[in-house]
Amino acid sequence: MTQLTANLNPKILDDDFHHSTESLDSLAPRLLAWFAENGRHDLSWQQHQTDTPNPYIVWLSEVMLQQTQVTTVLPYFARFMASFPTVQDLAAAEWDTIAEHWAGMGYYARARNLHKGAKQLVEVIDATGEYPITLAGWEAIPGVGPSTAGAIMAMGLHRYGVICDGNVKRVLTRWAAIDGDITKSATTKELWALAERLTPREQSGLFAQAMMDMGATLCTRSKPACLLCPLQDDCLAHAQGRETDYPVKAKKQPKPSKFSNALLIKNVDGEILWLQRPDNGIWGGLWSLPLEFIEKTSGNIKGKTAPKQTDASDEKPLKVASNEKVYEAEFTTAEQIINEWLDKNQLIAKSVSNTLLDDAPIKHSLTHFHWYLTPQLVTLNTKQAQEITDALQSAEININWLNTEDAQSKLGLPRAMVKILE
Ligand code: ADE
Ligand code: SF4
Repeated sequence: MTQLTANLNPKILDDDFHHSTESLDSLAPRLLAWFAENGRHDLSWQQHQTDTPNPYIVWLSEVMLQQTQVTTVLPYFARFMASFPTVQDLAAAEWDTIAEHWAGMGYYARARNLHKGAKQLVEVIDATGEYPITLAGWEAIPGVGPSTAGAIMAMGLHRYGVICDGNVKRVLTRWAAIDGDITKSATTKELWALAERLTPREQSGLFAQAMMDMGATLCTRSKPACLLCPLQDDCLAHAQGRETDYPVKAKKQPKPSKFSNALLIKNVDGEILWLQRPDNGIWGGLWSLPLEFIEKTSGNIKGKTAPKQTDASDEKPLKVASNEKVYEAEFTTAEQIINEWLDKNQLIAKSVSNTLLDDAPIKHSLTHFHWYLTPQLVTLNTKQAQEITDALQSAEININWLNTEDAQSKLGLPRAMVKILE
């Protein structure tokens, strides 16, 4: 058999790994044989069956796949490619259009990075006539970390690239029984060294594809299908029946909780007031109901402004984000105007369907906190609706009065808003 693997780091010897040279050398051929026979070859972004790979497709799909599953990504990816078939189209698009295309996938920083990244890529292409062709060139694109850059090099350019994302880490910690905490940099280094040792020089793109596929379909988090796995003969976790003990990961600090009222401000036509959130901060550039952040302390809710709060003294104790500045920072100008105006007009928001939603406000988990949203209804007459519209527009705030159906179809709404409307 030809020597497929490259030990690119001469300081790392095979003795440093938990497997024999024979095991290390045979992993790639075993994995590639499995992939050829049993892998997925019909995912719309795959570039292993063409001689002219498109790095734009790989970059776009990999960013989408960073935190979202394949089945969810498929329709989003199709819509992106239909609307923005080239990186130039994406770079030239309005942010609002991109936000609408992304709405519902979460982790919106990725969408903002795609927009910024597209502009940077177009600059590189205009200057050099081609996409970046080095790992460092790709890592300079916002939202592209070392593993995504490796994937683009390998799959999007058919050059040499190594991946070591969450899927790969799961497979490798199991196969080699690596019991270091994968959130620690020493373990990360060890895993990258192993991934590099295992990646074949000539077919790194196919290998990356196969590795991701194996991790996603066989070596799954809770029920790995070891009996079908091409690595089962020398998988050290499997030998001990300890597959699900890997990867070892320090328990995360429990996320803090935040509480907000989501104001359903209705006019006489049954339309609801929508605000476009500022570009920085949560849901940047997306449309949302006006929010009212609530501070919860020792079982009581204290509103920042007037609308009366329900007594929640029988609430379970929850870990609460304590820094008041957090609330202040996320309270937009528009929301301040609305809350002061409601206050001044002595309009009190009423909990929508007291029994149901007060007991079970919408829970939405973001990267850094859990967010409990309670919908509150405020009904305005024609004059009041005009007044608040004028107040917001004179502050140059983007607003929209739309019924729930139109809001869902015409605006880019974050998932949490869709949950409220449902
Ligand atoms: N997860 C991350 N990248 C992927 C890819 N290219 N195919 C399948 N799952 C993935
Ligand atoms: Fe994962 Fe099981 Fe294969 Fe080991 S044998 S790599 S635990 S699927």
